[in-house]
Amino acid sequence: MSGRLELAVEGRKSVEGWAAGAQVLALLSTIHELGWTRYLAEPRELAELAAYSGLPPTRVSDLVAVLAEYGVVVDDNGRVRLSSQYEAFAADDAWIGLGEILDRSAVMSKLIDTAVREPGPLPLSEDDALVIARASGGRATAETRRLFEQVFLPQLPELADLVRRERWLDVGCGVAGSSLTLATLFPEMRSVAVELVPTVAAEALRRAEAQGVADRVEIRCLDIRELKETDEFGGAFWAQPFFPESTRAETLAVIRRAIKPGGLLFLQETEPEPQPSGGLAYAVRRLVTRGWDVPFGRTAEQLAAEAETAGFDLVRLAVTDVGRYVVAQRPGR
Ligand SMILES: C[S@@+](CC[C@H](N)C(=O)[O-])C[C@H]1O[C@@H](n2cnc3c(N)ncnc32)[C@H](O)[C@@H]1O
Repeated sequence: MSGRLELAVEGRKSVEGWAAGAQVLALLSTIHELGWTRYLAEPRELAELAAYSGLPPTRVSDLVAVLAEYGVVVDDNGRVRLSSQYEAFAADDAWIGLGEILDRSAVMSKLIDTAVREPGPLPLSEDDALVIARASGGRATAETRRLFEQVFLPQLPELADLVRRERWLDVGCGVAGSSLTLATLFPEMRSVAVELVPTVAAEALRRAEAQGVADRVEIRCLDIRELKETDEFGGAFWAQPFFPESTRAETLAVIRRAIKPGGLLFLQETEPEPQPSGGLAYAVRRLVTRGWDVPFGRTAEQLAAEAETAGFDLVRLAVTDVGRYVVAQRPGR
């Protein structure tokens, strides 16, 4: 058994390790905000970076040393540039980019602070909801299309088949990352994408227009429980990890009515258990997610039971490289 001194040193070491991570995160946020991540996508002389930043050369070299220590930048024949991982992560064609993850981290820190101070549900402003939606759905880029085409869709062939033939309903579309990726892959696709939060729906619409698919992906700012359609859609995707307990049964009832008899419903399992390397982050996400009254880590089997209680039949549990999916069906045809 260690003495109190050794115990305190052990505790201090842990916290100092986390503090170093937090300080690098702060540094990364600032350089990203100031455009360094774009500038350093190309190799630069230290003197060029000094001129770019307006900082003295010694400061620049100290900053670069920290970034190199953490693998953000590398030496390229005496010049400095982003490492290939960070170049891809910070680039415009990233599925979910560095800026999105940094913004979400800031929102999470704020929510954790509130979780300790306030007993009630964790408040999410419209701007915070947009940050969360941007970091969850990601962007419809050439890289995202490649992921869908090569990995995700071959493992869920029912989905591609359906969006080519029938109208598609995206429930809780966020910034419509998946609807826009599908629409840009399949020119035949017609869909209605429903999002509750006006700021998030406005961003989804902006992205649909930018991709030139706003005539085929109709973004509706609406609580899905207000959707009026009956027997209309060939299938639906439900972003279930974002729906509070109090809204789930009604949401499933509305989807069941809105899709045609025989139509399919897809649900994704998220975080059924912590990854061996990510236990801490898992516990933090559970804290915040439950603070929103959203069930955390519901398994595919539990989601299938939830859909069956709402009157769907289970078709199958599909295993994909991006997690397990429940494929359920509205009975009848
Ligand atoms: C973050 S998105 C999921 C990502 C999305 N699948 C994508 O591809 O971009 C989930 C969204 O569901 C929305 N949502 C939650 N409850 C809702 C409801 N009752 N009606 C409509 N949207 C809702 C949330 O506002 C949130 O933006």
